[in-house]
Amino acid sequence: MKTAVYPGSFDPATNGHLDIIKRSACQVEHLIVGVLNNVNKSSLFTIDERVKLLEALTQDLPNVEIRSFSGLLVDFMEKVSANLIIRGFRAVSDFEFEIQLAQTNHSLNPNIETIFFVTKNEYSFLSSSVVREVALYGGDVSQMVHPITVTYLKDKYESMEV
Ligand code: PNS
Repeated sequence: MKTAVYPGSFDPATNGHLDIIKRSACQVEHLIVGVLNNVNKSSLFTIDERVKLLEALTQDLPNVEIRSFSGLLVDFMEKVSANLIIRGFRAVSDFEFEIQLAQTNHSLNPNIETIFFVTKNEYSFLSSSVVREVALYGGDVSQMVHPITVTYLKDKYESMEV
């Protein structure tokens, strides 16, 4: 195992994502966090903001690199010469989507494998969409995201005047 890719939307990165980044970075030489720039899906944070935030959150992890990608994950994997995908697995509700993703990627490129890190108990029901919603209505997200992310969320919603 040399280079692995941890792909996702990270809109924004949660403590659950950070936990997976830290744990998987210990198992590979080089971890690329691939941030999807999805032109078909609107996101709260721009691709530049999501990348910048992840860079700030991972600045102490020397073997972690943050890159954005668009299009197929398998094409990005080929571009960065990686054949291992990392994904987090929270609860049984993740199963259908994750198996579909892993099987599709493997069928598109049989050299690509996906390995799953089981999320810590406390992050089982944590998602970026929950974070966005709680923050939108002024709820406390300090247990869900890093303090830097709390500031990003505050600034974003203030700039949107919601
Ligand atoms: O954080 P998310 O939204 O659960 O991550 C999903 C992601 C980005 C890993 C997935 O949507 C993806 O890889 N998209 C890129 C397009 C692609 O390769 N699709 C084929 C597999 S269905």
